[in-house]
Amino acid sequence: RTARFTLDPAFTIGEVNPRLFGSFVEHLGRCVYTGIFEPTHPTADAEGLRTDVLDLVRELGVTTLRYPGGNFVSGYRWEDSVGPVEDRPRRLDLAWRSTETNRFGLAEYISFLKKVGPQAEPMMAINLGTRGVAEALELQEYANHPSGTALSDLRAAHGDKDPFGIKVWCLGNEMDGPWQTGHKTAEEYGRIAAETARAMRQMDPSVELVACGSSSQSMPTFAEWEATVLAETYDLVDYISLHAYYEPQDGDLDSFLASAVDMESFIENVVATCDHVGARLKSQKKINLSFDEWNVWYTSRWHEIENSAARDWSEAPRLLEDNYSVLDAVVFGSLLIALLRHADRVTVACLAQLVNVIAPILTEPGGPAWRQTTFFPFAQASRYGRGQVLDVRVDSPTHDTKKYGETSLLHATAVRAEDGTVTVFAVNRSRTEALPLEVALSGLGLTSVAEHSVLADEDPDARNTLEEPERVAPHPAAGTTLTDGTLTAVLEPLSWNVIRLA
Ligand code: AHR
Repeated sequence: RTARFTLDPAFTIGEVNPRLFGSFVEHLGRCVYTGIFEPTHPTADAEGLRTDVLDLVRELGVTTLRYPGGNFVSGYRWEDSVGPVEDRPRRLDLAWRSTETNRFGLAEYISFLKKVGPQAEPMMAINLGTRGVAEALELQEYANHPSGTALSDLRAAHGDKDPFGIKVWCLGNEMDGPWQTGHKTAEEYGRIAAETARAMRQMDPSVELVACGSSSQSMPTFAEWEATVLAETYDLVDYISLHAYYEPQDGDLDSFLASAVDMESFIENVVATCDHVGARLKSQKKINLSFDEWNVWYTSRWHEIENSAARDWSEAPRLLEDNYSVLDAVVFGSLLIALLRHADRVTVACLAQLVNVIAPILTEPGGPAWRQTTFFPFAQASRYGRGQVLDVRVDSPTHDTKKYGETSLLHATAVRAEDGTVTVFAVNRSRTEALPLEVALSGLGLTSVAEHSVLADEDPDARNTLEEPERVAPHPAAGTTLTDGTLTAVLEPLSWNVIRLA
C-alpha cells in the first residue's frame, strides 16, 4: 500500500526557531577533554581547541549549545572554572565519579562558541543542586554585567573585557531525578526556581529562563511536577524543559523505531499541562518547550558500569561513548521529525551531546575525529529544516508494535523555506518493506525534485568506526519524480529520507 499526504501553504504548524538545532557540551567523559579541547592534538589551535572537531561542529549546523551540564552542573562551582588556569582547583565530580581539572572553563566555552560561528549561542545552566540564588547572581554578574562591579571587573581582569551576553539560562538540571545531587520535590524546586528567576530578572529583565521539567515522560512525578513547578514560576520563566532518551528494550526493534510516538505524546502532554496552568492563572502568556536533552542512548550499557569499581575518579574517562548504527540514525531522524512537527511550541532543543558522549561526532585522543551515522540527519535537518513547518497528516500503512500499538510506517514532516522551496523529511519504519509515497502538492508552485537523499543500508547494524570512519553516509535515491503536482517516491526499508523540492 502507498503512503500519502498533502502539502498546502495555507496549512502550517509554525516557524522553525533556529534554536531547535541546539546541542549540549557537558563536563562528562570525553565531551570536553579530548573531545572539543585537546591542547596537545596536532590540529589544536592556540587555545587548545581541536580544529578538526570545530570543522565538523560547523558542518553539523548546531546553534544553541547548552553547558556545563547535565548532572555535572548540580555540583558545579563556576568560580573554579575562571581565571588563571594554574590556579584552578581540581574537584570531585560526584555526578560522573570523575576528577574535574577545570582546565576548560567558562571563558573557554564562550571562545569555543565564537569559533563555531555567529549562529552558535550560549545556554548556561546554573547549579540549583548544591547552590542557590546568591551563586546564580554572582555567575550572572561575572558573565553579563558590563563593568564597574567586583565580578564584572574580575572578568575583565581575567582577560574578557566584553560581557559574554548569555541570554538563555537553565534553572538547574533534572531536579526531579533522585540521582541528581541536591534532588528536590516539585514544591522545593518550584520555590528555589521562582526565587532564582525573580532575582536574575532583577539584574536583567531580558534574560530567558528555563525551568526544569521532567527527566522523562515515565518519571512517576511526570505532569504533576510540571504543574507544581509552573504554578510557582509561570510569570517568571519562558520555557519548561523536557528530556528523553530512547533505546531498544528486550530486542523489540519495531517499538524502538516508533520512539517518536512517545516523544510526540510527551511534547503534547507538556503543552497541555503548561496551558492548563496558564488557564488556571487566567494568563495570556504561553510557556514554550525547551527539549534540551534528546537522543538515542543505550542507558542499559551505562547502568552496567554505573556503580562499578572501575569508576575511580579518573580524568576524562571513556563514558557513554555509544557508537550508532544505521537503525539508530533512522530512529534519531524520526525524533528530529517529532521536534519539527511541534515547532510551534518546541522553540529550543539540544541534541545530547556534541562530541564522544552519546554524540554525533567521535574522536580519538591524538587521533582523528569522524561523523557518526546520526550526524547526517542532524546536519540535513539543520540545513534544510528552516522556515515554516507545513501541517503533514499522513495516510499510511501501519503495523503493530508492542509498546505503541498500531503505528504508521511513515513518519514525516515538511518545511517551506523563505524562497518557497520545500523539504520533506520522511522515515520508513518498516524493516523489511519499501514504502511507496505520494505527496499531493497544492498551491506551492513546485516543479522539480532537487534532491532525494537516503540514509539506509543493507546492514542496519552498519556504523562508522575508527577503522572505517566513512562506512555509512547518505546516498541519492533513484526514481523520485514530481509530475502534475504529485511527488512520487519509494522509501527504502528502514530509511531516513530528505526530499528537496524546487
Ligand atoms: O546527557 C547525559 C545525562 O543525561 C545528563 O547529564 C543528565 O542531565 C541526563 O540524565
